[in-house]
Amino acid sequence: MCGIVAYTGPRDAVPILTEGLARLEYRGYDSAGIAVIGRSGDLRVRKAEGRVAEMAAGLPARFKGGAGVGHTRWATHGEPSDANAHPHVAGTVAVVHNGIIENADELRAKLVADGIELTSETDSEVLPHLIARSGATELEDAVREALSQIVGTYGIAVVDTRHPGVLVVARNGSPVVLGIGEKEMFAASDVAALVRYTRQVVHLDDGELATLRPDGFRTSTLDARATSKEPSVIETEEAAYDAEGYTHFMRKEIHEQPAAVERALRGRLDARFHTAHLGGLDLDPREARAIRRVKILGCGSAYYAGQMGAQLIEELARIPADAEPASEFRYRNPVVEADTLYVAVSQSGETYDTLAAVQELRRKGGRVLGVVNAVGSAIARECDGGVYLHAGPEIAVASTKAYTSTAVVFALLALHLGRIHDLSPADGRRIAEGLRALPAQIEEILRQEDRIASLAGDLAKYRSMLFVGRVRGWPVAREGAQKLKEVSYVHAEAYPASELKHGPLALVSPELPTVAIVPDDELVDKNRSTLGEIRARQGRVVTIGHRATDEDAVVVPKNEPELDPILLTIPLQLLAYHAAVALGHDVDKPRNLAKSVTVD
Ligand code: F6R
Repeated sequence: MCGIVAYTGPRDAVPILTEGLARLEYRGYDSAGIAVIGRSGDLRVRKAEGRVAEMAAGLPARFKGGAGVGHTRWATHGEPSDANAHPHVAGTVAVVHNGIIENADELRAKLVADGIELTSETDSEVLPHLIARSGATELEDAVREALSQIVGTYGIAVVDTRHPGVLVVARNGSPVVLGIGEKEMFAASDVAALVRYTRQVVHLDDGELATLRPDGFRTSTLDARATSKEPSVIETEEAAYDAEGYTHFMRKEIHEQPAAVERALRGRLDARFHTAHLGGLDLDPREARAIRRVKILGCGSAYYAGQMGAQLIEELARIPADAEPASEFRYRNPVVEADTLYVAVSQSGETYDTLAAVQELRRKGGRVLGVVNAVGSAIARECDGGVYLHAGPEIAVASTKAYTSTAVVFALLALHLGRIHDLSPADGRRIAEGLRALPAQIEEILRQEDRIASLAGDLAKYRSMLFVGRVRGWPVAREGAQKLKEVSYVHAEAYPASELKHGPLALVSPELPTVAIVPDDELVDKNRSTLGEIRARQGRVVTIGHRATDEDAVVVPKNEPELDPILLTIPLQLLAYHAAVALGHDVDKPRNLAKSVTVD
């Protein structure tokens, strides 16, 4: 959601903070700011509505410091403005904060009653005041005291001119990672901001606080018990966080899908028993046989990938499976069953709704498996077992490669469960071969980009579009509509093809084109007759399928029917991307959205 960067060491903190913020901008981008402790011990603050580059451009040459904090914001409390931008300051203290302080109104009222003048509408502004008012000698203790008064979630970084060279960071529900350098220390909400400077990192746990000095760090709990942390090494190459010559991260990530799928499959297919092995599953065959139901939870595209996953599990393993938005599940007092396998899906591993659903499930004794991209993230750590996507960092707000890798991991899980249940070795081999064929087939679809781009340019003229699919095509249609809405702002509605005649057919006209998912499976004739109904009402139809029936057809290579939906989604990603480009939108940073939604 928002991004945090902090530094202490011998170098000038300013370029490190601004460069780090630019790398985190995908998480939030309505305002940005930094605060550094100058060499003469004064606090220098610069913050402004708008992008990081605009904020940094206005910095005078003498704006330098040895320790500092930075923030890029996506507004939750209070509109984007200079005053609401972070860092928030009280006297000698500057704080950047991610998360939501639920009792902020009450705390603000108390501060105002004590004669303190608050200058923003944010919940975060209470933090520097609470810290500044503490009588504690150590900054760490002052932060601890302030946090004990807070109800809510936070990832924070604090500097205080009374403690030059000291940074205090803390985490509760919003990630904080420490970066260990040579006589310098870093902290950030995401390793993306650290990769340029160090590979050695430490992930803080919820309820942990760290004090950083140039020569090292110490961690403790909120009630001051020391904790011990082993640094881990960031494996991902720095280049993975760069656009590497692509105009947009979204396009780069669409093109990375063959390699991402290879990685998701690597070492997981068993040619002897025609099954899949998933290391982190932590489920022996007897436990796997005892599963009576699978319930998949995620939000947005993660939920649609989960719907595709549920279909794969039902088809291949014949275990009843369904997907539900985690954001709904967590609020409806769900019945939790001992013989249900719950699966939480998340690219970022931070989505608060999904995390809250996992926590509720664990509290009720449910067994939860995570299908997550971000290694060491909150959701990954909260689950009983898990499978990583290994898709690499996904920077564009619109999810593409993580969506595809999630579907591939579900196919592996379905194959694994299927081979423990009733899927024959021959069918196991058929699916494994289908999976191995995916990377080359995705390449083949990507080679059609120019044609899909020209179709997208044409479709971008319409104000609204319908996406339809039947059974296996239905989650594909939903994801296609979601992608188009997110980046092009063209209204798109997804409907099961079978439901058209029960209502939305009334909308069909020459002004409303339909994108239809038409795999060559046992339902192809049914789908074709639905398309006939649309055409009879002068509706334009673009088909994504296996047959070139008319000029508006995008033809994808045929795989096994169960795996075809994975391939059918790829043209829809390109369609959305190129429609957004044709309309001149900021594809990687669509309006009103941020990459990970870490708030309620
Ligand atoms: C879609 C998109 C969102 C996310 C959703 C879940 O392109 O970006 O719908 O899929 O917010 O995010 P994660 O997967 O990080 O939990």
